[in-house]
Amino acid sequence: MAIIKKFRIKSFKNKKTLLELKNLSLSFGDRQVLENINIEINQGEILGMLGPNGVGKSTIFNLITGLIKPNSGDIYIKNEKINDYPIFVRTSKFKIGYVPQYGGFFHDLTLVDNLKAVSEILIKDPRDRIEKINYLISKFDLGQISSIKAKFLSGGQKKKLVIAMALLGEPELLLLDECFAALDVMTIKMLQQIIVNLQSENRITICICDHQARDLLTCVDVAIVLSDGKVIAKGTPSELVKNQNAINAYFGDSFKFS
Ligand SMILES: Nc1ncnc2c1ncn2[C@@H]1O[C@H](COP(=O)(O)OP(=O)(O)OP(=O)(O)O)[C@@H](O)[C@H]1O
Ligand SMILES: [Mg+2]
Repeated sequence: MAIIKKFRIKSFKNKKTLLELKNLSLSFGDRQVLENINIEINQGEILGMLGPNGVGKSTIFNLITGLIKPNSGDIYIKNEKINDYPIFVRTSKFKIGYVPQYGGFFHDLTLVDNLKAVSEILIKDPRDRIEKINYLISKFDLGQISSIKAKFLSGGQKKKLVIAMALLGEPELLLLDECFAALDVMTIKMLQQIIVNLQSENRITICICDHQARDLLTCVDVAIVLSDGKVIAKGTPSELVKNQNAINAYFGDSFKFS
């Protein structure tokens, strides 16, 4: 098995739920997008979200960060109901790092100034800021392009920058919306390794969605498939690819994952 994650965390001792979405429903106008969604992510777990275009994956991230509010249902982090918490409180109190599907950077700042701007908010000690920025620039191999304005970076370089920005604050919960999109094969491998290391070394809880299903399944503990506004399947990667609901709604008959 060409798997990065050699030791999937099969059962967490003393499982603790970090994030819980309970009976969440959301409509835009008269169009219902999410219908009684229930999702739980345990502390230190990597959860993958799969589902066709427009099913509501980015919307779920927006609900978690507080960019939008559900019509009904509740969101809990560490057993605390956060429905009424504004974005800033959610992200600072619970240390949420978020890589949005699009954007997420200051277009007219250089790559390094983007990192500096965010570090000034997240890291108190100026020496720690510089150290962390240098570490991330080297980790993502961004040294040669650090003085280029972000709007001129390539798609993959922008993605790397936004991921680095999300890691600056050493998040406890990392939300990655299509983090593999636009990345080359080697960078995807590197990012998968980073994701798995963040989990094993820092016990970060991670939620990823992506259309690169194979790349996603390679580095998650558990994944769900969304279809028609509902969670229609859940399991470990090997369970999920055999799940008939998931095959019918998402993978199709020819998808191979071994
Ligand atoms: N602010 C909004 N107003 C109206 N409709 C919206 C809004 N945001 C999202 N939608 C709709 O909600 C649905 C879910 O969108 P969302 O972006 O969450 O899908 P997704 O699963 O992330 O898709 P993709 O895989 O293409 O990124 C779509 O039909 C979209 O058009
Ligand atoms: Mg999306």
